[in-house]
Amino acid sequence: MSSKVRILVKKKNKKKIVCLTAYSKNTGLVIDQYCDLVLVGDSMANVLYGMKNTHKLDIQTITNHAKAVRLGVKKSLLVIDMPKGSYSNSNQAKKNAKKLLKKTGCDAVKIENNSSNLNIVRTLYNSGINVMGHIGFTPQFKKKFKVEGRTLKQQIQLIDQAKKIEEAGAFAIVLECISKSSAKKITKSIKIPTIGIGSSSACDGQILVTEDLLGLSGFYPKFVKKYLNLEKLIKKAIKKFSNDVKTGKFPSTKNSF
Ligand code: KIV
Repeated sequence: MSSKVRILVKKKNKKKIVCLTAYSKNTGLVIDQYCDLVLVGDSMANVLYGMKNTHKLDIQTITNHAKAVRLGVKKSLLVIDMPKGSYSNSNQAKKNAKKLLKKTGCDAVKIENNSSNLNIVRTLYNSGINVMGHIGFTPQFKKKFKVEGRTLKQQIQLIDQAKKIEEAGAFAIVLECISKSSAKKITKSIKIPTIGIGSSSACDGQILVTEDLLGLSGFYPKFVKKYLNLEKLIKKAIKKFSNDVKTGKFPSTKNSF
C-alpha cells in the first residue's frame, strides 16, 4: 500500500495520522519509523535560518534540504512545501511543483490556500501531482497570528473552503490554529484527512515542527507540547566539552591515534 493510500485508509478506519517536519537526513531517518507523513516545511525559514517569517525562503534552499531528508525517509509520505511566490499562477505552480518533485524525490507538494488559489490545487491534481492543502492560519499569506473558526461565519467559510479543496483534488489538508468545534466540523465534512497543528484532537492527524517538540526552536506557543528540553541537554554537553578541552581532559589517549 502506498504511503498516500495508507493515510486515506487510516481516516476511514478512524486511526490517527502521525506527521512531523524534517529538514535534514538524520532527523528524517529517526522520525520515519514513527510517522505516516514527513513534511519538509517552509518553517525552516524561521527555525533554521532565523528569518522573521517564511516569505523569503527560496526554492533552491528548500530543494537542498528536501534532497537530504529524502535520504533518510523511506516509509513515510514525504511532502515538500512550495515556498511563497513559487505558485502564484497555474503555469508557474505546475512548472515549479514538477521541478521540486523531480529534483528531490518527494512524493507530494503542499501549498497554503487563500481565497483565490483553488485553481492551483486543481491544476496540480490534473497534472498528476499529489497536492496537500493548508487552511486556517497560513503564514505565507497572513501576517498577524489569529485562531480561526471561532465565529459561525468563519466556520462556514472554512468548511466551504475545505470542501472546495477536496473537490479540486487535494489528498489531505493541514488545519492550522483552527478552533476545536470548527476543526471537528471540517473533519466530518470531508473524506480526505485533516492534519491539525494547533487545531485540537478533532483532526484526523497531528503535525508539529520537530524542533518545537524537542525544545530546540525557542518557539513554544500553547499548541506545542515540549517532549524534551534539547537546548538544556546540548548546553550541558557543550559546557562539558569546553571544560574538557580547557583542562586537557579531551582528547584523551582513547580519542587519539
Ligand atoms: O512549514 C511547516 O512546518 C508547516 C507546518 C507547520 C504544517 O507548514
